[in-house]
Amino acid sequence: MLCAKYRDFLRWNIYQIYPRSFMDSNGDGIGDLNGITSKLDYLKELGINAVWLCPCYKSPNDDNGYDIADYRDIMDEFGTMADMERLIAELHKRDIRLIMDLVPNHTSTLHPWFQESRKGKDNPYSDYYYWFDEIPNNWQSAFRGSAYEYDDVRKQYYLHSFAIRQADLNWDNPAVVKAMQDVVDFWIDKGVDGFRIDVIDMISKDLRSDYNGFGPRLHEYIRALFGREKAAHLFTVGESGVQDIDEMIRHCAAERKELSTLFLFDPLECGRSDKFTPKADSLKTLRDALVRWQRETAAQDLLHSLFTDNHDQPPIISRIADDGERRYESATDLAAMLYLLKGVPFIYQGQEIGMTAAHYDSIACFDDLETKNVYREFRRSMTEEEALAKINFGSRDNARHPMAWNGGDNGGFTAGSPWIALHSRYREINVEKDRSAERSVFRFYQALLKLRREQPAFLDGELEVISAPEDAYFVFTRTLGDEKWAVICNFEREQTITLPFACGAPALSNLGRTEASGSYRPYECAVARVR
Ligand code: GLC
Ligand code: CA
Repeated sequence: MLCAKYRDFLRWNIYQIYPRSFMDSNGDGIGDLNGITSKLDYLKELGINAVWLCPCYKSPNDDNGYDIADYRDIMDEFGTMADMERLIAELHKRDIRLIMDLVPNHTSTLHPWFQESRKGKDNPYSDYYYWFDEIPNNWQSAFRGSAYEYDDVRKQYYLHSFAIRQADLNWDNPAVVKAMQDVVDFWIDKGVDGFRIDVIDMISKDLRSDYNGFGPRLHEYIRALFGREKAAHLFTVGESGVQDIDEMIRHCAAERKELSTLFLFDPLECGRSDKFTPKADSLKTLRDALVRWQRETAAQDLLHSLFTDNHDQPPIISRIADDGERRYESATDLAAMLYLLKGVPFIYQGQEIGMTAAHYDSIACFDDLETKNVYREFRRSMTEEEALAKINFGSRDNARHPMAWNGGDNGGFTAGSPWIALHSRYREINVEKDRSAERSVFRFYQALLKLRREQPAFLDGELEVISAPEDAYFVFTRTLGDEKWAVICNFEREQTITLPFACGAPALSNLGRTEASGSYRPYECAVARVR
């Protein structure tokens, strides 16, 4: 059985906000904290009760805030600390928790720690980063090119696992561990309820290894952050390359006092053979990945994070479902498949209205640093058209275009000119239009989250998978005491689904079904109580 703390987290319905693209309050074209505050009633109506904010700390924005120049201050474009305090108060007033993004692996090279560190070996910050006279291994930056950069001031190389201006902190220096504990405490004192921790596996490294993460002291460092009394109440979700259950146990078993859960990346592999290359996949691939983790986490009393979308990935609806004619059915079917399983739901902004990948027609429309590097690399061997098709498929900007609130100019996101173009279909896919449509993704999400709130079987209930592996649909039940619910999600083809038990009329369905068994249209789904 899950421990009491984790059982409570099952009630958290988390909404991820990419602040730059959520809502602009002052017409400079960039989303900001006051913009978020102005939309809290919208989130409340949706039924969420926790928000994860992507980084909003002071930053020169080489990597949109994942390059932090001051962990204790707010990015100028996003507002002030007073705005942040007001946001926290307004969230809490509505019983919405706040999860901040913590980026402990690296800082911007503009961070004062780096500026001091580069001055030389006698500086008190000298060992805050990795410095070398000679490049020690062939690690590559995740954003392309060598992971080492020569610094003219210090006359040595430093390590950057990501952008050149994102220098890796040296956690083997106890002062770094202490400094990051202080950052966590600073935000606990501001009232935050949890953290999403960026590339957590990288904070311990073994320079002789092929991979720049999963070093020998990883667990010691995670515990230094979160194993302390002061942090015991936090919800923590780590971004990590963990692939198997044994690693997950080492990070997330309750008694280890490390993390509450991890993002498990299998869903992100659906529908592509690599980040920029599509692969025709059935929803089966997603179902099987989810089922595997459901079984393994349940057997080990671990918390499964239910997510398919975030700010680094093109929306799953565009990868393995139908984001054209059957966009509504796909969006709602995917939601039923995912969020009625056992775990903590994460909804990425726009997912609740069935937002799709962006589809820009020129490289000039893209902003992301990784995208630009990759495009340059592709162009060495591809035509412009081919390279553009690849990035239109895989670019992180597919998830970073502004939220479309209505079909007016710039989707109601800004009164000015947006920092990145809106989605090419925003006049068709936007909040106002979706909410007033006969078939509304938003309203389906609302009803689904309400079911989760009102039916304990969807929280703690046991999962039984009814569909066979070869079936092109997903049927499962959730059972708690005498309460049993069935969730039926059809995949791409129309077919008859006959259930081995009798059900009441569906309490939720995307195409207005009145019977749980019978012929299902493509991407049709239903949720019904088992009699
Ligand atoms: C994580 C973030 C990503 C960022 C990278 C470096 O993967 O999700 O957006 O670029 O870490 O901080
Ligand atoms: Ca703004």
